[in-house]
Amino acid sequence: MEQLLALEMVRVTEAAAIASARLMGRGDRMEADRLATEAMRAAMDEIEMAGTIVIGEGERDEAPMLYIGEQVGMRANGGSVPEIDIAVDPLEGTNLVATGSANAITVLAASERGGLVHAPDTYLEKLCVGPLVAGQVDITRPPTENIHRIAEILRRGTGDITVVILDRPRHVDLIAEVRATGARIKLITDGDLSAAISCAVQGTGVHAVMGIGGAPEGVITAAALRCLGGEIQARFRYRNEEERERGRRMGHGDETRVYRTADLASGDQLVFAATGVTKGDLLDSVRFFGGGARTHSLVMAYQTKTVRFVDTVHMFDRDRPPSVRL
Ligand code: FBP
Repeated sequence: MEQLLALEMVRVTEAAAIASARLMGRGDRMEADRLATEAMRAAMDEIEMAGTIVIGEGERDEAPMLYIGEQVGMRANGGSVPEIDIAVDPLEGTNLVATGSANAITVLAASERGGLVHAPDTYLEKLCVGPLVAGQVDITRPPTENIHRIAEILRRGTGDITVVILDRPRHVDLIAEVRATGARIKLITDGDLSAAISCAVQGTGVHAVMGIGGAPEGVITAAALRCLGGEIQARFRYRNEEERERGRRMGHGDETRVYRTADLASGDQLVFAATGVTKGDLLDSVRFFGGGARTHSLVMAYQTKTVRFVDTVHMFDRDRPPSVRL
């Protein structure tokens, strides 16, 4: 099921990317997100599966589509179809699309029932690293210690380590501490999910992601890093009693608990798919041309140990086909 699902799922992220890329630079993040969400839902409904959204755009009353608990897929047409849990982020980096900035992606993770943690739409403190460093850092230790450890394992000075951190006031102390180690920092306005994938891919020049970002993004990150052999360590961070209560209801009341990659994405049949909307470190943007578009995606399957970069030409009009170029 995993391989088949992976190839079906990349069609879902491709459809969302094409829909939202139309709004690049138009200053309307909400509309870009809405278009991605609608396209994702329509594409998922064409897949023969009984899908349940476990991480989505929010609760049923606040999200018209792809809300937590929503059923997607063609479902049973008499015969039996696989039961799949799906975590979606229809547009990761809504502001990035609105401003035409780099690294916006459409993304989802899927697994057999129960293979992805149900996380509230709150925050997670995250430490993400690639395969060489996986298992050798510790989020409960100070960032300085982790950076020295990463540098030692990668056999380089701390000045040759690059850490990605979301540019937020809550990270002032973290940024100061990382700077004091001599490590380089890439401050990003949005998109810690694609940054976390980058740190598990050699050649991107990213070695770690540190700091507090969205919890839903954290679960999808875990699915990607499990496929790539990287690691995420995370702790829930709540801003107020209301969020804490929401977390508690979903079984995440213990703010000292460290969640590891397989705690967040435990599935055996794990699939990850992402498509670039704007050009990024890993993926190219959607490129439109007369009669079609070209997309660039990453699709991974855990059990079958495959990582595919998929370059797709979409022909919108068969009567007026575009000339396909290398
Ligand atoms: P969008 O939901 O607008 O796509 O934002 C994505 C993001 O930047 C994530 O990459 C990150 O985890 C989270 O938002 C950070 O949240 P906040 O903007 O509240 O600091």
